[in-house]
Amino acid sequence: MSAISLYAKASPDFEQKLAASLALLKSAAAQYSPLTQASSLGCEDMVVTHLMHEAGLDKTSASIFVLDTGMLHLETVALIERIETRYPSFKVDVYRPDADAASNFVEENGEQAMYKSLRLRKQCCHIRKMEPLERALAGKKGWLTGLRREQSNARAEVPDVEMQTVQDGGQTVERAKINPVANWTLGDIWHYISINAIPYNPLHDQFFPSIGCAPCTRAVTLGEDFRSGRWWWESESAKECGLHVAADGTHEAQEPAAFEPLSSIIPIREINA
Ligand code: ADX
Ligand code: SF4
Repeated sequence: MSAISLYAKASPDFEQKLAASLALLKSAAAQYSPLTQASSLGCEDMVVTHLMHEAGLDKTSASIFVLDTGMLHLETVALIERIETRYPSFKVDVYRPDADAASNFVEENGEQAMYKSLRLRKQCCHIRKMEPLERALAGKKGWLTGLRREQSNARAEVPDVEMQTVQDGGQTVERAKINPVANWTLGDIWHYISINAIPYNPLHDQFFPSIGCAPCTRAVTLGEDFRSGRWWWESESAKECGLHVAADGTHEAQEPAAFEPLSSIIPIREINA
């Protein structure tokens, strides 16, 4: 069963949402240059890339970057080339973790460190996502994400545009975080993918609605929550890697009970790292 047949269903006001997203992207490109898209290569981000193209943006007005944590599924990484083929007016910049920091962490804490404690999981996310994110956003006035309000309680209040006060090159600066599909439903996302034949990760057709690093993502079963396959051993409130945690720590997570890996909850995909 494909993700399109499973999820595609436009909201009654889909056309208005689409027009508003395109208008937001155009104004973001005019107001917040240099602008960049943070793409996890998930379904929302593929939609945002297509919207950028439809809004008339190209590599002169916006860049696209992927944080390749070294732990992504092969199917995910393969999308980078598919984006550049489908949208030749864009180039995808890939940011990787510091190789020494990543290998020292694995040497000290093991390949399965993320399951041992929330502290180690966050440390891994810091090395593989947060530090590379800082490099990807250096000098940028605005960044685009695929966050949606429907995704989780922690994201229920995600605004269309949020001004963030951040440190950049030793200076305190303002940066806009723009969420052009914040009010889209999962049905809207898949409807738009379907009518535009937007390339997407084939894992979405294998019950992976939300995809992150291989060790921290698993398939869900029908009826389970959209994000229940992400960091599934942690409590609902812990399920953020830090990319979208408010500066005041609003979404900071509590240490969960020690996790004992069970065969039934091991990711069903192989780890590619
Ligand atoms: S996460 O915080 O739980 O990992 P999620 O996978 O839902 O985030 O993605 C939310 C948004 O964060 C994406 O739409 C994208 O903008 C950004 N993002 C997440 N992972 C990456 C990545 N590996 N590279 C670039 N951007 C990412
Ligand atoms: Fe590490 Fe998992 Fe975070 Fe990826 S999602 S950086 S593998 S802890």
